Amino acid sequence: MLLAQYQCGSCHTIPDVQAARGRTGPTLSAFGRRSYIAGHVPNGPEQLVRWIVTPAAVVPGTTMPAMGVSPEDARDMAAYLLALE
Ligand code: HEC
Repeated sequence: MLLAQYQCGSCHTIPDVQAARGRTGPTLSAFGRRSYIAGHVPNGPEQLVRWIVTPAAVVPGTTMPAMGVSPEDARDMAAYLLALE
């Protein structure tokens, strides 16, 4: 629900999230099996929360914008994404 509410799906395809069929960003299918976030940072709960709140602080120069996500909401979204197999 949060992933839909913050409109992550306008840029990403995300399994089982309504209207998440965007193609600007990479697909988030099977994200739990991904080794790196944006090809740079080892994937894991803490890094993923930081990424969702402030992408440019994790990977300088990234084209993914900060979406105004609270750390609490980012934690829930990260848990969902890391559970995608
Ligand atoms: C305006 C388009 C846009 C929106 C909106 C957006 N993203 Fe992204 N996202 C991107 C782009 C572009 C990348 C690739 C960034 C890079 O490689 O530097 C990315 C990368 C990612 C990655 C890493 C993917 C990978 O393959 O490593 C995750 C996870 C992610 N986004 C989650 C989210 C979440 C959660 C939201 C909603 C809060 C969101 N994104 C909203 C454009 C967007």
